[in-house]
Formats: sequence, C-alpha cells, structure tokens
Amino acid sequence: MKVPDNSNLVIFGASGDLTFRKLVPALYHLFQTKQLPDCFFVLGVGRSEFSDEAFRERLAVYLRDEYALSDQDLSGFLPHLHYLALDTQNAQAYASLKHRLDVLYEHYNTPHNTLFYLATPPSLFPIIPRCLAAHGLHEEHSGWKRLIVEKPIGYDLKSAIALDDALHEVFREEQIYRIDHYLGKETVQNLLVFRFANGMFEPLWSRNYIDYVEITGAENIGVEERGGYYDGAGALRDMFQNHLLQVLAMVAMEPSAAINADATRDEAAKVLQSLQPIQKDDLQERVVLGQYTASVVRGESLDAYRDELHVKPDSRTETYLALKLFINNWRWQDVPFYVRTGKRMPTRVTEVVIHFKSSPHPVFRENAPHNRLIIRIQPDEGILMVFGLKKPGAGFEAEEVSMDFHYQDLGETKLLTAYERLLMDAMNGDATLFARSDAVKACWKFVEPILDYKAQQPAVYGYASGTWGPREADELLKRDGREWRFPCKNLANTDYCEL
Ligand SMILES: NC(=O)c1ccc[n+]([C@@H]2O[C@H](COP(=O)([O-])OP(=O)(O)OC[C@H]3O[C@@H](n4cnc5c(N)ncnc54)[C@H](OP(=O)(O)O)[C@@H]3O)[C@@H](O)[C@H]2O)c1
Repeated sequence: MKVPDNSNLVIFGASGDLTFRKLVPALYHLFQTKQLPDCFFVLGVGRSEFSDEAFRERLAVYLRDEYALSDQDLSGFLPHLHYLALDTQNAQAYASLKHRLDVLYEHYNTPHNTLFYLATPPSLFPIIPRCLAAHGLHEEHSGWKRLIVEKPIGYDLKSAIALDDALHEVFREEQIYRIDHYLGKETVQNLLVFRFANGMFEPLWSRNYIDYVEITGAENIGVEERGGYYDGAGALRDMFQNHLLQVLAMVAMEPSAAINADATRDEAAKVLQSLQPIQKDDLQERVVLGQYTASVVRGESLDAYRDELHVKPDSRTETYLALKLFINNWRWQDVPFYVRTGKRMPTRVTEVVIHFKSSPHPVFRENAPHNRLIIRIQPDEGILMVFGLKKPGAGFEAEEVSMDFHYQDLGETKLLTAYERLLMDAMNGDATLFARSDAVKACWKFVEPILDYKAQQPAVYGYASGTWGPREADELLKRDGREWRFPCKNLANTDYCEL
C-alpha cells in the first residue's frame, strides 16, 4: 500500500479498550512493516492522568504480553506515542490540546495533517468536533483534517441523523470516516474482486439464476464484560444494522464504474436504499429474536445471558436475530435474503451462501445437485463451490462435489488486519471502505420498524448456549422449503470451523 504523507493521529479515548486492543497493535504493525510515514506522532487523549512515559509503559506492557514483543522490538515505536489528559466535554480545555499539537507539529517538523479518532463513549461523538472547531483545530490551511468515528453511529434513525448533523456542522462529508471494521476485512473486500474481476460469475448473479442468499455472522463468545453496552443494543444494533447490512450491500450491489470512494459507495448506498421495508403485519413471521440460556458446552458451564455481568435479570434483549428480507430492484426482486447473527453459537463464523436455482430441466432427478457458492469471510477465509458430477460407475447418477480455495493457500502473505487497513486508508484519504452518511441512514431506515416491533415486547425465544439459535429460526426457512447451511464440516469439533 502507498505509505501516507506525513500525518498524525489524535485518539480521543486513548486509555480505553479499543485503543489498547485494536488501534495501537495496528499502528505498531504498520510501523514495524515501514508502512507509516517518516514523520508521524500519536497523541492519546483521555481523562485519566498519564505522563507520556506512563502511557507508553502501559501500552508496552500490553504489547509485550499479547504479542510477545521485546523492549528492543518496541524501542523505535514507543517514542512516537504521547498523551494529554483532558476532559473532552470541556471546550475550554481544548486550548491545551491546541498548544500540545503545535509543540508536536514543530518537534516532528510535520505538516498539520491530522486524523482525529473518536474512540470514546458515543455520547461524546457530537461534542468533540464542536470543541475542536471552537479552537480552530478543524481548519485545513496548514494540513488536512479528518475525523474517524467508531460504531455505534447512532442508536436509531433519529439519533443517527442528529449525530450526522453535529458532525457536518464542523466537517464536510469527505472528511468523515465512519468505521465499520467488517469493511476492513480482506475477505469482505474480496467480494468485490470476486464479483467484478471475473466475467463468469456476474452473469449468474441475479434473480434469474439465484434462488436465495444466506448470510451468517455467528460468534461463539457471549457478551463477556460488555453486558452494560450490549443490553441496550442487542444483535440488531450491534451486528445487523451495520456489519451484516454492509456485507449484504457488497453481495448485492451493481458493478461500480470504478473502485473508488464515490463510485463504490454510490452503488452500496443504492442497494441499502432499495431494501424492502418489512411491513408491520409481516414482522412476526419474518423476524426471529432469541436469547441464550445456560448450558454446558464442551464440558464448560456457561451462564445464561440474563446472569451475565451488567445485564438486567429480566432482560428481553436479543442475542440472536434471524430475518428474511428482500431487495426491491431489477436484479433481486423476489429473491429472499436470510440473515442471521448470534452470540454463543457453536462456533465463530461469518459467511455468505449463494444458492443457485436448480437446472431448468432436471434430467438427473435422483440426487439433483444443489449448486452453492460459499464465501467464507472468517475464519478459514475462502470460497467453496458446490456442483454435481457423475457418480463413478454404471448409469448416470449425479453426486455433489466441491471445489475450494483457501486464502491460507496463498502462502505467507500476511493479511492486514481490518484496523491496519482502515487506518492506512484514512491517512491516504481513501474512504472507499468507510460507511457513508446516506448508507448509514438507509440501514437505520430499514431497521426502524424492527426496533418498533422490539419495543412491543414480542417473543424472544431461548436457545441453549452452543447451539445454532432457536427452533423458530429454522422454521423461518423450513416454511419456504429451505434450511440454513451447517457451516462446519466436522460435526464433532466446531472449535475450528473449516470451510
Ligand atoms: N472495544 C472495542 O472492541 C470496540 C469495538 C467497536 C467499537 N467500539 C467503540 O469505540 C468506543 C470506545 O470503546 P472502548 O471499548 O475503548 O471503551 P472504553 O474502554 O470504555 O474507553 C472509553 C475511553 O473514553 C474515555 N472517556 C470517557 N469519557 C471521557 C470524557 N468525558 N473525556 C475524555 N475521555 C473520556 C475513557 O478515558 P478516561 O476514563 O481516562 O476518561 C476511555 O479512554 C466506543 O464508542 C465503542 O462503542 C469499541
């Protein structure tokens, strides 16, 4: 990738989990592989008091433990990290940020190109830009200024619009980079290359040949320490509204005239704007909500969701969601998309399954093959094609076989993590893999009736931890004569989910 021009990163929320677990490891790897510019600094901001040295030492402890790095490994990187204690809600306090930035720009002798990264609680997302503007820190006369915003981008349509308005008071849309880390995943990007670099799949990619599409985003973990946040969000807001709808957009969008921020995001937004709203009367039939219950999984006793830390004991929050949706356009009219996501599933897996229609005149009625294309986003990233061949021996019987490609077969190529890729893209001013305002609003617009439905306290079905969700989710497909793909080859060991 292109090494960005000299530029700097200010992280609001630098003492938090995201900075430790994702941002700093990503920056370290980019530094170590010489992908960062010659002159760059990171200024962490938070309320906690740290000197630069104490901040570096805290991060060093984490990096040494998690990544088995030595002091020597870290010696070149750590001096680029700085810290400023600041109450982010207090506009006046930003005078000290301005001063500190001026000192650092001069010390590093770098242009004032700066990325402001909002890694704070979302309530601060509208406040920080205003405070930056109060001190002219958003002005671009001596270098570009960009803003990275983490999820959640709003809590519903109204709050997403309000947040957008607040961001746009200070930053132009092209300066705003909304992170959806799914878009930073190599295999999600591969959906575009797979579809649009090959002439052989695209002609089949429509209602004429595709029967239905399945999208699964399963996690094997529960809510862990995030119960406080998750109980107010649920699977609909946490996974579906953002990550899975972005994946769906990549699967369903029209080929763009070019791969750049405007052209690609125009097409993604069009798909999301074409989602057919689920009518009130259909919600009960088309949306299944579930919540995990206690269970013993591979010898380990796991708590029910309601017994998790910071979760209300009578919580009705869904840890599982399955739904059936349609896209109203020429390519996809009447093709169902079945999307499911859940916590405490048997394994961690994200995949898209394209189910093709059967041949128009099925001469091999016995065992007629069911053509499928499985695009595995994680883990064991790859693509599997299922088709029929003649069963060896007498007669003409068909049997299903598969051809598969695994990313790992490409050899030692180290894939960039999502945060590495997205940080680099933001520094390079490439917004292709960031969610645009119109797409985010379209997602919320589609989700809004489901949020209203949830507010009416519909049934939330229990499912034992370590299973594929409630029975009612199987019924959703069974009613249409279909079933979810079982994503693991090895039924006995779902720890590792082979393609
Ligand atoms: N963690 C993840 O994996 C993850 C994944 C996706 C999205 N996100 C999003 O990223 C954001 C940060 O998440 P997190 O998990 O890192 O949260 P966290 O661990 O709670 O950290 C929040 C950070 O914000 C700072 N902060 C809170 N109030 C502040 C204030 N008034 N002024 C200045 N700083 C303040 C805290 O520092 P002080 O206490 O020192 O003030 C801390 O550094 C959230 O919006 C979250 O939704 C996180």
